[in-house]
Amino acid sequence: MAGETGRPTAYSGGQKLLHWAIALLVLAMIPVGLYMVRRGAATNFDAATNALYTAHKTFGMLILLLMALRLALRLGRGAPAPEPTLTPVQRIGSESVHGLLYVMLFVVPLLGWAGISAYPALGILGGYQLPALLAPNQPLAETLLKYHGYAALAVAGLVALHIGAALFHRLILKDGVLRRMLP
Ligand code: HEM
Ligand code: HEM
Repeated sequence: MAGETGRPTAYSGGQKLLHWAIALLVLAMIPVGLYMVRRGAATNFDAATNALYTAHKTFGMLILLLMALRLALRLGRGAPAPEPTLTPVQRIGSESVHGLLYVMLFVVPLLGWAGISAYPALGILGGYQLPALLAPNQPLAETLLKYHGYAALAVAGLVALHIGAALFHRLILKDGVLRRMLP
């Protein structure tokens, strides 16, 4: 449904479903990613560590795919205008965090994919191999995966700000912001 400004009056069911599916996946990927790297160092890559890496790569690629769908919906359909109760600072702040999350949720999996291409370690669940983005180059792989880790930590920081803001709206300001993303 379109509002007077040509923007929809609410997020669609598909946009909400994608928001929550990606939110759950990202909230699981960050701690499991940190754990698997440390477990690899401690066990010299035992079978369980390798299984975690395979799952991490597979679910990370799923996030990339879902983000592509989500971006297409966002560009095609748009998002509702900001809640009218927001101050200019809250509006600029929330739109900046949302924009950075969109960018970083492409940057993080693409750095991971580029890293495992250069390594090369392209196997995912089901015995499939991802297509390689780059030629084998081990030092480059290590650099790309290092920046993959830093970028994932930046996502963790943005998510903390974002969840903190959602709770602030719900519990302190008691406005309608959280309801906009609920089913
Ligand atoms: C949004 C999606 C993703 C998130 C949030 C994420 C998060 C993380 C985190 C937090 C780490 C630990 C970094 C460290 O401790 O150094 C990590 C490591 C890793 N990720 Fe991801 N990741 C994602 C997608 C991907 C994808 C798509 C791939 C490959 C297809 C991938 C491959 C890897 C690899 C190979 C490592 C291990 C790096 C190493 O051994 O130093 N990740 N990831
Ligand atoms: C408990 C966790 C979360 C809550 C309560 C929450 C809540 C919300 C709410 C209420 C909005 C709508 C803001 C508005 O336009 O008025 C929103 C938007 C958004 N959220 Fe979350 N969120 C959560 C987790 C996450 C996570 C983990 C991510 C990223 C990985 C994320 C990414 C986004 C993005 C990118 C938008 C902008 C949507 C758009 O305009 O297309 N959220 N969230």
